[in-house]
Amino acid sequence: MIEELLTIKNIDVYFVVGIILLFGILESISGFLKNSNRKKGDWIQEILSFLVLGNLVKPIIILLMFGLGTYFFPQYRLALASLPFVGLFAAYILIDDVLQYWYHRTAHETPFLWKLHRPHHQAEEMGFFVSYRNALLYYLLMPNIWWVALILFLGGGKVVALGLIIKQLIIIGSHSQLKWDKPFYQYAALRPIIKILERIIITPAFHHSHHGTSKLDTASEPNGNFGNMFSLWDQLFGTATFQSSYPKEYGLQQKTNDPWTASYFYPFVKSPDLKSEWSAGFKKTDTTTLEAISVSLTKGEAYLWCACGMSKNQPFCDGSHHGTKFKPQKFAVKRTGTTRLCNCKKSNRTPFCDDTHLSL
Ligand code: FES
Repeated sequence: MIEELLTIKNIDVYFVVGIILLFGILESISGFLKNSNRKKGDWIQEILSFLVLGNLVKPIIILLMFGLGTYFFPQYRLALASLPFVGLFAAYILIDDVLQYWYHRTAHETPFLWKLHRPHHQAEEMGFFVSYRNALLYYLLMPNIWWVALILFLGGGKVVALGLIIKQLIIIGSHSQLKWDKPFYQYAALRPIIKILERIIITPAFHHSHHGTSKLDTASEPNGNFGNMFSLWDQLFGTATFQSSYPKEYGLQQKTNDPWTASYFYPFVKSPDLKSEWSAGFKKTDTTTLEAISVSLTKGEAYLWCACGMSKNQPFCDGSHHGTKFKPQKFAVKRTGTTRLCNCKKSNRTPFCDDTHLSL
């Protein structure tokens, strides 16, 4: 039945567009769009990004794959077509998802890819429209699109179509403001269901947490929860944090004033805002020192200690660690008063100074 349905021409495209429209209409009816603070540039970038992805990036990569495949490996054309659908689909979707987990995670941990993924995290509101908000080059380099093209060449058109439909549903659902999982956390009787579901698929609470501005908010984990469809990879590679609430604030700690053209076309277009990572000649600087920094801290408050050594607000995190493997360290103190925090970043009991800097 499903296999037959998948033979309908462009069925995946209808579903992909239909799911976007459905969430768009529901968010609109719910009043999210009316109360939105989004600017014209946000809409332009997101709509353009969606249209270019579907109508240019994917077709070009698919054409390229077919050209190269037919030239170099004509014997493998349709090689997978006769394999059992269920097994092929399972293999396709798991490989697709693990590729995207690592691409996404790498985009958070390496400087250049981070700048291509930064538009996605610059959004200060969640919503269906945020899903496709990335630089053009981010999509051109995305291994998943090449993977889709390869499977199509090998004759896996139906598994790709079903995969795209499921992926679209989970991705748009997890970015949406609708938070379909909220009732499951609110009502005790429903909680066991979401506890199982969140360990399988990416839920809004799980993904919203990834978009939260700062770890100071207990519902936020901007340095984890990298999954796309399934939370399996985050659980397997130690980056999962399950939440039952949603961040109070979304977006980046460092606010910059960038035109949408720099956001979408970086590195070909630069930002005029010199504080922006997209500006020409922008550099993160080492702000560590060979001495501790004494700060007044209050019992009961949470703080984020900078571990990357690039914050302009040492010893506290200011978000400069994006694009590196470092994560800020959240901590609290037992007594209100002055505390010496490590700023050489080599202490053995971070965030506190243990005088390691004296021997450096
Ligand atoms: S600025 Fe966040 S860890 Fe350094």
